[in-house]
Amino acid sequence: MRKPVKKAIFPVGGLGTRFLPATKAMPKEMLPVVDKPLIQYAVEEAKGAGIEEIIFVTGRGKAAIEDHFDISWELQKTLEARGKDQELATLAKIASEPGQISYIRQQEALGLGHAVWCARHLIGDEPFAVLLADDLILAKEPCLKQLIDLHQDVGGNVVAVQDVPKDQTDRYGILDVVNDDGRVAKAKGLVEKPSPDVAPSTLSIIGRYVLEPDVLHELDRKEKGAGGEIQLTDAMARTIDRLAFHDLRFDGTRFDCGNKSGFLEATVAFALEREDLRGAVLDIIARYGAANLTQDNDISAKVIEVCK
Ligand code: G1P
Repeated sequence: MRKPVKKAIFPVGGLGTRFLPATKAMPKEMLPVVDKPLIQYAVEEAKGAGIEEIIFVTGRGKAAIEDHFDISWELQKTLEARGKDQELATLAKIASEPGQISYIRQQEALGLGHAVWCARHLIGDEPFAVLLADDLILAKEPCLKQLIDLHQDVGGNVVAVQDVPKDQTDRYGILDVVNDDGRVAKAKGLVEKPSPDVAPSTLSIIGRYVLEPDVLHELDRKEKGAGGEIQLTDAMARTIDRLAFHDLRFDGTRFDCGNKSGFLEATVAFALEREDLRGAVLDIIARYGAANLTQDNDISAKVIEVCK
């Protein structure tokens, strides 16, 4: 019997420099896709996968995340007094059991591996999940649930993957694959952000992991890797000779909300999923599409035309 995966780490200490000025005083994880912060999508995915303990690894300037997952008495009382049942139900969905969420400070931004390592005492000796909120996943079955189901079958370390264009390997952890049935692959090595000419494949790690505690012991070494940072990929790679390493091409679509075009696409895709917004979004897309916008148009003139 394998130990169940009940704890998840959410590294949320990053500065979010790619979204300045929006992220000057607001955590990037609080940026909303439609009307929900990125971090809430990730937490809901984890809960939908059976996670019971949520661990945020935060940094300075991230207090809004703690407030978001706390009760807001003033807001709640005001909504109750005004009979705003729908809004109250929306708030109720964010609620957690007392003690279900922990916050750990990562004092210095030393890398993803270091962020995960900061939570080691709360993980102890059991398998755990890691979710990166920047990777937003639209799926019928939560991506993390798909990974946990695979972990129950095969054990070891399990990560979500997708194929990326060859010229983008230097943005991801890339796998060196031995067996690949098209859905599940087994890796014999992995490397963080290799340049395209040396990348062993184009199969890249997406921000969902189910890991054995051995990875935390590897992180104790605090060895620096790509970009001078302590990399989670390197710690996982060092366990490969003794622990199976499986990768899952999950069912679902991943949006890279760490960059602006990915974030915009996620906003459109998630709005189209919403019955109350679908009509309006389709209308917007049709109008802008019909305006035949191209790189060398006088865009602002055309936008004004479309918005009339
Ligand atoms: C991190 C990981 C990388 C992974 C990526 C997925 O990189 O280090 O291995 O492929 O997340 O989004 P980051 O995007 O934090 O640079």
